[in-house]
Amino acid sequence: MSPEVLPTTTPEPGSGQARRVQLRTVDDTRAWGVRLGASLRAGDLLVLGGGLGAGKTTLTQGIAQGLQVRGPITSPTFVIARVHPSLAGGPDLVHVDAYRLDGLAELDDLDLDTSLETAVTVVEWGHGVAEQLSEDYLELTLSGHDTRTVNLVGHGLRWNAVDAAVVLDNLVSLP
Ligand SMILES: Nc1ncnc2c1ncn2[C@@H]1O[C@H](COP(=O)(O)OP(=O)(O)O)[C@@H](O)[C@H]1O
Ligand SMILES: [Mg+2]
Repeated sequence: MSPEVLPTTTPEPGSGQARRVQLRTVDDTRAWGVRLGASLRAGDLLVLGGGLGAGKTTLTQGIAQGLQVRGPITSPTFVIARVHPSLAGGPDLVHVDAYRLDGLAELDDLDLDTSLETAVTVVEWGHGVAEQLSEDYLELTLSGHDTRTVNLVGHGLRWNAVDAAVVLDNLVSLP
């Protein structure tokens, strides 16, 4: 009998270990987003994955609160991106919904590059698109019903530096 070949768990080069956190309620998701948002800095790129209703916008609402930017954060149904200015002298939040986005060219057309360095950019449905904007991004994938599980993978030097690893470890271990 030959041994079963298991899928490799070795991260891609430049990618860190996968971490996960369970968020039981909407309030938990928002509260965790607040903590995440408070630990972000200018230039950070977050790519949110998961199906419709997975909690990406809910999480972004928490992130916005933690960043102290002007709301409200809504599902950008008719616009692809919205800029939420900082109310605290920190980075603005660029909230992108890539659902209807036709690839990187269109995302480029939004002139997001100009704000990438000074803002925090959160892209819903960004897998396969937003990653091309930067080697450094935090990938968050939401799944589950009611209790949501968030899988986090940090890519690039920003998210694999020692200070970021401490932040991410705290985010997934503290209640
Ligand atoms: N633990 C949870 N975290 C986030 N949302 C939840 C949770 N449990 C239930 N929900 C519900 O799921 C929906 C998530 O919607 P939304 O954040 O707009 O998702 P998405 O942006 O991924 O499409 C909301 O109606 C919210 O009330
Ligand atoms: Mg949404």
